[in-house]
Formats: sequence, structure tokens, C-alpha cells
Amino acid sequence: MKDQFQRTIDYARISITDRCNLYCTYCRPDHEEKLSHKDILRYEEILRLCKILTKLGIDKFKITGGEPLVRKGCADFIYELKKMNKVSKVTLTTNAIFLSRDLDKLTEAGIDGINVSLDFMDYEKYKNITGYDGYEKVMKAIKEAAYMGLNVKINTVLTEQTTMEDIQKFIDYIKYHKICIRFIEQMPLGNKQITSSLSRDEIRKNLKDQGIRFHKVEQKIGNGPAVYETMEGYKGMIGWIEALHGKFCDRCNRIRLTSTGGVKPCLYYQEAGNIRKLLRNGSSDEEIKKVLEEIIYKKPQAHHFEDKPSDSKMYTIGG
Ligand code: GTP
Ligand code: 5AD
Repeated sequence: MKDQFQRTIDYARISITDRCNLYCTYCRPDHEEKLSHKDILRYEEILRLCKILTKLGIDKFKITGGEPLVRKGCADFIYELKKMNKVSKVTLTTNAIFLSRDLDKLTEAGIDGINVSLDFMDYEKYKNITGYDGYEKVMKAIKEAAYMGLNVKINTVLTEQTTMEDIQKFIDYIKYHKICIRFIEQMPLGNKQITSSLSRDEIRKNLKDQGIRFHKVEQKIGNGPAVYETMEGYKGMIGWIEALHGKFCDRCNRIRLTSTGGVKPCLYYQEAGNIRKLLRNGSSDEEIKKVLEEIIYKKPQAHHFEDKPSDSKMYTIGG
């Protein structure tokens, strides 16, 4: 369907849990409140909701968390979602700690793509930012997933600790691997101010100075906001996601659902409503559809990160 600004909304990001097995410094709160099971939507409830969303023209679904693979039954849920009428693509964003374990089931479920969050290709730096000794597990899972022919992309947030040497490791990796690395400008979330980090222009200039030649990819890849470039002589690609310096709100196509049933038409703002009660009080699909339709229609025009940070919590909205 179209929102009030004539943007077509056809992509839903579904967070199935607020729990995560990592403690990334820029994402995890010091004192996190743990939600109880009854507050979290059951898979049947999420599936019902997805079905209603397909009736509003949403056909692409991204499964997120917290960390989605910490919730039992995630691959079975994806299997059910993939079978649903009018669902075109179901993809997953994961930190890949449990990915090796679940790869077979995810492949059998028909997953259309996996985005792996990995900020450093460096054992120590990975451990420092995530608080977990998992670097080797993640690299192994990336390799296995790519080997199985899955569409794998790596999400790399440009943190204050990221240096050009760190970037170089990713660039070297994609010389021989057909994997896409997306460099993500960090968004000031959870009321955190960003001090300084590498920008897309600085990274491109450095790589260009080394003689690397870029070519913009014109065709649409994926559901999200990234813009892609190939590099001559490299098997992989680079993607750029810049919520502030390359603001993409005018082509935003998505809404978010939190694990408790909150509906967030924009990452920056508070939930515009919560449909858990409706799912549990006997409301009809038609009634729920109406509520969702109204929220989607009123989706805000743009975020305002440039004016002030958002108090959205990344681990509850899954990015
Ligand atoms: P594909 O294009 O299908 O690969 O997915 P994606 O890029 O939409 O999903 P992913 O979960 O990998 O998110 C990548 C980054 O984009 C994360 O940092 C998200 O927070 C960011 N992102 C995704 N959607 C939005 C959005 O609507 N607004 C903002 N500001 N950032 C977003
Ligand atoms: N800004 C940008 N991206 C972020 N992510 C987590 N926190 C932020 C932030 N503040 C990324 C994760 C994950 C994706 C869903 O969102 O690294 O890959």
C-alpha cells in the first residue's frame, strides 16, 4: 500500500525476540529489562499478522531480534512464513553465532538471504566490541553459508574504533569471496551521541588512492536502503548505508514490528501502536488490518537524527 507521502510500503522487519547473546557496546543497554514470555508474540500470532500484512501489499519480510536465532523454532517459523501466499522474500539478519547450527534448517525453509553483523575481521577487536569470543564461529558460518549458495551479506557498522586497517581487511576478503560488505554509518540511538568515525567519502578516497575503480550498481539489490558498488578485480561488492549523510527516507519502504507487538512505522520514533491486545482479544483480521493500514498510512516523512538522537532501542527493533 502507499503511505501519505506516496511511498510504497512493501517490506516488514519483524523482530521475534529482544534477547541477544552478544553485548555490542553501541547496542546493548547497561541495565536491560528482560521481557517475560507472555509479553512476546507467539509464532502463530506473528504468522497471523504477516498474513494480514500481505493483504496490505507487504510481500518481503526480514526476521530480526535481538538475535533471532536465540529464539527456539526460528527456522520452523521461517518455513511457515515462506509457505504463505503472496510472500515473496524472507531474509534474516543475525550475528551468526548460532548460524552453523541452523544452516541446514534455514536452507530447507527456503531462506532468501542472510545478513551477518560483523564489525571487525579481527579476533581481538571482535571480542572487545561484542564482549564474546566468537569471531571464529562467525567466520566459519559465513563461509559455510556462502558455500551452500546462500546470498550472504556482511553488515559492518563504522564505529569510533574502526580504522582504515579494519576496512582493508574486509576489502581484501571480498577480493576472492563473492560476498557483499555493507559499511553502515552508526545512528545515534539509545540517546548515544556519535563522536567520530570513518565516512564513506574517506573510505572511498583511500581505496581510490590505491587504484581501486568503483562502478555504481544500478539494479535493485535487496529490500533495504543500501547503495551498491562493484570494484574492478573484486568478486564481492560494497554496499553503503548512510542514514544521516545519505538520508533515504524519501524511498523508505518499510515498517517494523517488535517482539511484543509494537508497530513502528519509522525507526526513529516511538511505536505508533501495539497490536498484541487485538491479536488476543478476539479482534478479526479485518479489524487488525484497519489498524495497521492507518498506522502505515501515517508513517512519518523522515527521521531527525541530525537534530537529536532517538531513544529507540536497537535490540528491540532489530535494526
Ligand atoms: P537487505 O537490503 O534485504 O539486505 O536488508 P536491509 O539492509 O534492509 O536489512 P539489515 O537488517 O541488514 O539492515 C542493515 C542496516 O540498515 C541496519 O543498520 C539497519 O538499522 C539499517 N536500516 C534498515 N532499515 C532502516 C530504516 O528504515 N531507517 C534507518 N535509518 N536505517 C535502516
Ligand atoms: N547504527 C547503525 N546500525 C546499527 N546496527 C546496530 N546498531 C546500529 C546503529 N546504532 C546494525 C547491526 C545489525 C543491523 C541490524 O543493525 O550491526 O547488523
